[in-house]
Amino acid sequence: MQDFIYNIPTKIIFGPERLALLPEEIKAHGNRVLLLYGKNSIKTTGLYDKVVGQLKNHSIVFEELSGVKPNPSIESVRAGIRMMYEHKLDFILAVGGGSVIDCAKAIAAGYHYDGDAWDLVVGKATIQKAVPIGTILTLAATGSEMNGSSVISNEATIEKIGFGSPLLRPVFTFEDPTLTYTVSTYQTAAGSVDIFAHLLENYFSSHDDEGISDRMIEAMMLNVIHYAPIAVATPDNYDARANLMWTSTLALNGLTGFGRSGGDWASHAIEHEVSAYYDITHGAGLAILFPYVLESYLAKDIVDKLPLTKFTQLGRNVFHLEADDDAILAQLTIDALRDFFRSLNMPLQLNEEKVDDTHFRAMADHPVNTTGTLGCYQPLTADDIYTIYKKAL
Ligand code: NZQ
Ligand code: ZN
Repeated sequence: MQDFIYNIPTKIIFGPERLALLPEEIKAHGNRVLLLYGKNSIKTTGLYDKVVGQLKNHSIVFEELSGVKPNPSIESVRAGIRMMYEHKLDFILAVGGGSVIDCAKAIAAGYHYDGDAWDLVVGKATIQKAVPIGTILTLAATGSEMNGSSVISNEATIEKIGFGSPLLRPVFTFEDPTLTYTVSTYQTAAGSVDIFAHLLENYFSSHDDEGISDRMIEAMMLNVIHYAPIAVATPDNYDARANLMWTSTLALNGLTGFGRSGGDWASHAIEHEVSAYYDITHGAGLAILFPYVLESYLAKDIVDKLPLTKFTQLGRNVFHLEADDDAILAQLTIDALRDFFRSLNMPLQLNEEKVDDTHFRAMADHPVNTTGTLGCYQPLTADDIYTIYKKAL
């Protein structure tokens, strides 16, 4: 096990009807609030009225920025930074899913940077300071509610890029599972796939069994396999929603990465390219691409005679599979993963999401531009990625 420092400072306030605590949590960090949210969902669910009621009742000054889109754009980030200066705001309250929270993080970092916020996203400049952020989570998926990562899209350059800093971890997050009762079956399934994918990315950071870290990941995977179908079939099942919400947070707050090297993250980078070119939901893209990425590792594993430990323990411990031959068990494991995603009505081929091969070459070249290869389990070249897109079409 590698050395690490465990320090996750985000305060989680979990459970229904706890918004009465919101004003005191905000006042511990700021006085003038940018209230950031997406399109309609917070108004149709009644959450908007509750949040605004709390702010007004406690005389907290706030300005609103709405309309943050899924796969949030740098334009929303720039608009948010302008508002922060114009109204002298000092705190950001993000109410929504990963897209709203990610946008809040980019605003928080961009506010303290003299140049254009896109420089921070692409790594041309480093994050020195950030405005404090609080969140009210409305969709279980990304883990953004407790991590320091953000993913921002730039329509002008056709890029979707992840960046981060410990400075961007929210100072608090309200997690009320009942707020996710209204999440559509499609978004519930896509969110569940995203949670599972975060677990897989850390799992496939190495070839060996990682002990406690792998066992925690397997437990979370079993939890998603159990509760995701329940939440899809019965949207107001509290236990299912609560388990998915807490698992989404734990899956990507750092916990499953401590003591091991970084995570693979090739599948995410490959999916982000698809999201940059097409209007596709992140989790749906992962459901299609992750099994193909694993199959590409499997082919290389056999060629290079690497151990198949990761595949076989995933098959045995999570999907309860058995086979005499490790390579067969590995393929059965990937088949089981696909079956799970399909059981949630997720797509398994890119053409189901109206993605064609027009941009495959650019989508394969872009993520390896700076590094030469992608991922760490079995580094992928641009040609490997191109082949993955072709197979996934
Ligand atoms: O805009 P509104 O009207 O709010 O509707 C949203 C949106 O259309 C809706 N929604 C959210 N909460 C709802 C609800 N509808 C009904 N009831 C509710 N309670 O759901 C739709 C999708 O929302 P979005 O925030 O885009 O989903 P998600 O949380 O999956 O976030 C996806 C974004 O996060 C990035 C993804 O790439 C994508 O851009 N990621 C961020 C990560 C991070 N920061 O650590 C890691 C992830 O791997 C991921 O890349
Ligand atoms: Zn993800």
